[in-house]
Amino acid sequence: MANRLLYLIGALLVAGTSVFFSRSPPSPDSGPPKLFPGRNNTVLFLTDAHPGMSNVHVATTHALLLSYPDLSIHYASFPKLEKTITSISNFAVHQNPTSNPIAFHPLVGKTYVESLDDTGFNIEKAIQPSGFRGIAALCNNMQTFLMPWTAPDYLATYKDILRVLGEIDPFIVVVDPMLGPALDAVRTQGRNHVVLSPNTLKDNFVSMQPWGSMFWKYPAISSGYPYPVPWHLIPANIYLNIRFIYSVLNTPHLAEKKVFLKANGIAKPLDVFSIYQKEYLWLTQSLPESEFPMPVIPDNVVTCGPIFRSSAPAAEQDPELAAWLSRAPTVLINLGSTVTFDEYGAGEMVHAIKNLLSNTTLQVLWKFNKRGIYSRDVFSEVWKEIEDGRLRLEKWLSIDPAAMMETGNIVASVHHGGANCFFEALGVGVPQIILPLWVDLYDYATRVEYLGIGAFGNPASAPNWTSQELSSSFSRVLDSGEESVRIGKKARDLGELSRKAGGKFRAAKEISKLARRGPE
Ligand SMILES: *[C@@H]1O[C@H](CO)[C@@H](O)[C@H](O)[C@H]1NC(C)=O
Ligand SMILES: *[C@@H]1O[C@H](CO)[C@@H](O)[C@H](O)[C@H]1NC(C)=O
Ligand SMILES: *[C@@H]1O[C@H](CO)[C@@H](O)[C@H](O)[C@H]1NC(C)=O
Repeated sequence: MANRLLYLIGALLVAGTSVFFSRSPPSPDSGPPKLFPGRNNTVLFLTDAHPGMSNVHVATTHALLLSYPDLSIHYASFPKLEKTITSISNFAVHQNPTSNPIAFHPLVGKTYVESLDDTGFNIEKAIQPSGFRGIAALCNNMQTFLMPWTAPDYLATYKDILRVLGEIDPFIVVVDPMLGPALDAVRTQGRNHVVLSPNTLKDNFVSMQPWGSMFWKYPAISSGYPYPVPWHLIPANIYLNIRFIYSVLNTPHLAEKKVFLKANGIAKPLDVFSIYQKEYLWLTQSLPESEFPMPVIPDNVVTCGPIFRSSAPAAEQDPELAAWLSRAPTVLINLGSTVTFDEYGAGEMVHAIKNLLSNTTLQVLWKFNKRGIYSRDVFSEVWKEIEDGRLRLEKWLSIDPAAMMETGNIVASVHHGGANCFFEALGVGVPQIILPLWVDLYDYATRVEYLGIGAFGNPASAPNWTSQELSSSFSRVLDSGEESVRIGKKARDLGELSRKAGGKFRAAKEISKLARRGPE
């Protein structure tokens, strides 16, 4: 169950360590890359199928269809994503009938998450405490996170992508570097490409910051430390960084796979040190204002602002739920597509919700799925609230979270710190309470505290949470006191700024410029 979180880590040091540690430039020949020509006005997207990894790309295709209907848009991914592409394409063509539907090309091989599952990985293994207590588990998992595919699976997908590139002959490719075989194939063929990933600026560029500040100023991945790292935690922060980097550099299983892949024609398989290249445009949904201060941002990086999907308005997606949302200001509890509740976590959440509902006129929408077997008694404290309709439990949300927040009825988003959840709430301007469970999720909790747009909901007990901690973070964000007013205002201000940045429309504009072939 590798969420994007897991892989973000990889990407972080991936792009990062390269710059910091390698004295020589990533590519030996320093001249401009020789580009494969490609078919004019043709764009190909290459991503994994997991929503955590593909949502920013899917959202961007939507904007391309709306704004640049003359372009021909292709999307290659695993078959699981086809339904999503078809529906976003239909929606866009409905809005702009002059655009062409997206052509979907299914890839052979296994998705990132399927491959992780095959290695015996699951959510229980992913959950880890922050800092010292969690670093061993995290480092153990790194080799798997970097390349969950078996070497033959990786090769099969790589070859299939070469085929698709040949058939479509795109003028520009938009690629998520987490799909290793895709980046390898694009670079083998020398295709012009753009990197688009859900990651933040810190994830990818922290190592470029001056004075080795990644070690002493920015919280180490998964540390949960505040920004800037306080003096007394600097030694621990340095240790966590070094240990993590060591685990990325020292990967015997990965080395075996790479020998196989090289023998089969991939010159530099999954070369984590050259993902960032200054010749190719890099699009990110981070903004300098929504990130820790980053004095160095490379020239070829465009900070687009939050990129997320927005389809039909809430009332069209589910009129009944939309009507319920309009009854009272609502707290949305949605820990993403992967996180489920064990009995302990559910019980603590129930106490905190009971407390919140007894003190306020708010209502709560809780996306709830069980982990393990336990009785419904866990809800006994809130039966009345459920009957009265002030607490609503759903297995899945029939309105997408962005559209839900856009109704203006959501007063706080309680989530696990996934990039999509963070950027959606940021973009709409809704305060956030973050309950991180692994790796980079801890960074998002630190980030909302630093930005003043929400709360780290479980700093003492993460990856668990207690009702006491939940109640106190609920009050900080929701009790209408001074702090909660300040948080609400800052979240709205950053939301406005984010919308001005353009998000998916900005990304689409940049891609469209690179899709046009100039006169010879
Ligand atoms: C989290 O809670 C579970 C009980 O559900 C417990 O077994 C585990 O040790 C706790 N983890 C931490 C890091 O406190
Ligand atoms: C609810 O009221 C109790 C008792 O007055 C208080 O301890 C708690 O902090 C309040 N919770 C919230 C969320 O305001
Ligand atoms: C590519 O398409 C653009 C826009 O349609 C056009 O202006 C340009 O001349 C074309 N380039 C070539 C080489 O045909």
